[in-house]
Amino acid sequence: MKYFELLKLSADYLKNKNIETAQLDAEILLSFADNITREKLISLLNYDVSEKTVIFFRKLIRLRGARIPIAYIIGEKEFYSYKFFVDESCLIPRPETEQIIDLAIDNYKNKNSKLKILDLCVGSGNICLTLLLKFSNAKAVAVDISEKALLALYNNAEYHSLLNRIMIINADVLSLSFYERFKSEKFDLLVCNPPYISENEYLTLAPEVKKEPKNALTPETNDNLIFYKKIIANLEKLLNVNGSAYFEISENIFAKLQNLQTIYPNLKFLFFNGFNNKPNVLKIFFLESVC
Ligand SMILES: C[S@@+](CC[C@H](N)C(=O)[O-])C[C@H]1O[C@@H](n2cnc3c(N)ncnc32)[C@H](O)[C@@H]1O
Repeated sequence: MKYFELLKLSADYLKNKNIETAQLDAEILLSFADNITREKLISLLNYDVSEKTVIFFRKLIRLRGARIPIAYIIGEKEFYSYKFFVDESCLIPRPETEQIIDLAIDNYKNKNSKLKILDLCVGSGNICLTLLLKFSNAKAVAVDISEKALLALYNNAEYHSLLNRIMIINADVLSLSFYERFKSEKFDLLVCNPPYISENEYLTLAPEVKKEPKNALTPETNDNLIFYKKIIANLEKLLNVNGSAYFEISENIFAKLQNLQTIYPNLKFLFFNGFNNKPNVLKIFFLESVC
């Protein structure tokens, strides 16, 4: 069978499964199965595919037909142009999260500064590892409740040669005792993309998104602002006086977060819209700070 025939058959199969990106997904999976780039694949369209590739590719297409996200099938996702290994234990890094990196880079012009970074709810490590790659003298503490997600983080830190600049902690950031351990250690930069999707919103998510760990998307309480409330209430324990915290947010929680500001007169809340022109990042710093 020729490459173009195999691509057409599989794209039609995925279309029948209501997958909007059927053609693109088929191309990505066929290049992965054949261990070639998509550019190379396009140059081979009129050539025969090897039997070995066809067998492997069909397995991948069936997985995609079952609405398994591409990133889980191929085991990786690009974030800020860097490669991150992912599996079903961790959230797949999203392009909108890259805005946290842009804002941090903008805030700290000196790329050699010895920033101390705290990433709460770190998952695969996309945020803090990217920051470590951008700030060559920075160090990070990375926290997540999921041991399996932390294994993905470890693999990513190893892949990017960053194990010597990161401390990995398996802990619950909602527990009271968690904040006690930081009494003597403060950070310049706190980053956090917490679970913030409400139970009702969760029900409306695409089948692919529901393949991601539920506790990475939705807090296990009725209050989907619980992570923001807990972390903001403890910000003085975590941040240096000139430090900044960056949280991913969504338009659905924007108004409630604005209200939260009123109970913290010593904190400045700044909201940034993302590429869809909707609230995407919340930056918080102490009012007396110069950041
Ligand atoms: C939205 S994901 C963010 C992952 C990654 N930082 C990113 O931006 O793609 C939220 C993460 O919070 C973790 N998490 C959920 N509940 C937690 C808790 N109580 N304490 C610490 N981490 C938690 C999940 O395991 C998941 O990795």
